[in-house]
Amino acid sequence: MKIAVLPGDGIGPEIVAQAVRVLKALGPNFDLEEAPVGGAAYDVAGHPLPPATLELAKKADAILFGAVGDWKYDSLARELRPEQAILGLRKHLELFANFRPAICYPELTAASSLKPEIIGGLDILIVRELNGDIYFGQPRGIRTSELPLFKGAREGFDTMHYSEPEVERIGRVAFEAAQKRGKKVCSVDKANVLETSQLWREVMIRVSKDYPDVELSHMYVDNAAMQLVKAPKAFDVVVTGNLFGDILSDEAAMLTGSIGMLPSASLDKNNKGLYEPSHGSAPDIAGKGIANPLATILSAAMMLRYSLGMPAEADRIEKAVQKVLAQGLRTADIYTEGTKKVSTVEMGDAVVAALA
Ligand code: NAI
Ligand code: MG
Repeated sequence: MKIAVLPGDGIGPEIVAQAVRVLKALGPNFDLEEAPVGGAAYDVAGHPLPPATLELAKKADAILFGAVGDWKYDSLARELRPEQAILGLRKHLELFANFRPAICYPELTAASSLKPEIIGGLDILIVRELNGDIYFGQPRGIRTSELPLFKGAREGFDTMHYSEPEVERIGRVAFEAAQKRGKKVCSVDKANVLETSQLWREVMIRVSKDYPDVELSHMYVDNAAMQLVKAPKAFDVVVTGNLFGDILSDEAAMLTGSIGMLPSASLDKNNKGLYEPSHGSAPDIAGKGIANPLATILSAAMMLRYSLGMPAEADRIEKAVQKVLAQGLRTADIYTEGTKKVSTVEMGDAVVAALA
C-alpha cells in the first residue's frame, strides 16, 4: 500500500511526523514516500506542486497531507502561492467529496464555548462538494455594470451552477456515509432563492430513493447555520455544495472548540483520497513543538478506513487518541486547568504507546 506523504509548511512537518510514527507503529508495512509541497516545494523546485510531487500523489493509494502556506510567500503571484498546491491536487485527482467530521470528545467539552449539554458527545459529518459551485463557475470577472441604478460602475460577478451528475455523485457519497453511521442525511441548500438549489434538492430526493434505510431532510443554509449552534446533535450527515459547505464546515469545527483535533478527507470516485487536518499551517506556532498532532493522526485513521480498507486499524488509532485524552494529556490548544500540558512529540509518544 503506497502512501504519499506531503508535509508542507509551517507546523506541517511536525504534525505529519507524528502521524507517520503512528502508522509505522500499527504494524502493517506501508510504503511511505515523502515529497515537498507548498512553500517548501516552491523553495526547492520553484513551484508549489512540482511535477514529481503530483506524479507521486497520482500513483499512491492515498495521500497524507500536512498543511501549506506561510506569510513569507504573500508577495508571490497567485499561481505560485503555496495554497495553489491543495487546489491543484483536488483538481488533478478529481477529489470532489470533502468529509469533515466534527466530533466533540467528552473529555474536551470544556474547550468548547458551547454548553456541555449541547456539545457533549457531538459526532456529525459534513460532506461538502469540492469541485463545483460558484467557486469555479464561468463566466466570472469584473466588468462595467448595466444595472440602471449603478450603470457604468465596476461590478464583480460569479456564476453558481451544479449539473445533475455532480449533485448525484455527492449525494450518493453522503447517503453511503450515512448508512455506516446514524442513517440520516440533511441536505442544505437555498432552494427558496436559488435555481441551482432547486435542482440540487430535486436530485437529492431522487437519489434518496436508492437508500430507503436513510432518512433525508432538507434545510435552508441560513437555518442550518443557526441549528448547528442551537442543536448540533440533531444532525448526522450534512451534505451541501462547495460554498455553503466551506462556511458550515468551519462553523462546525469551531463548535468543538479545537481546530487541532479535526481531521478531513477529500475523496475521488474510487475512494482514493487526500487526508489532512482541517486547520492550516499555523505559522504563528511553527517550530515551537507545541502544535496539536491529533487532527493529523486522526486523518491517518480516516485514510485507513476510507481509502485503504483497514477499518480495524482505524479504530485502533481512534481508540488510542481517546485513551490519551482520558489520561488527561493536552497540547496547548486544548489545555484546560487540571490537565497535563504536553508537546507535539510527547503527544505522538502517548498515542503510539496507547495503540492496543
Ligand atoms: P490556521 O488553521 O493555520 O491557524 C489558525 C489558528 O489556529 C492559529 O492561531 C494557529 O496557531 C491555531 N492552530 C491551527 N492548527 C493548530 C494545531 N494543530 N495545534 C495548535 N494550534 C493550531 O489558519 P490561518 O492562520 O488562517 O492560516 C495560516 C496559513 O495556513 C495560511 O497561509 C493559510 O492560507 C494556510 N491554510 C492552509 C490550509 C491547508 O493547507 N489545507 C487550510 C487553511 C489555511
Ligand atoms: Mg474554509
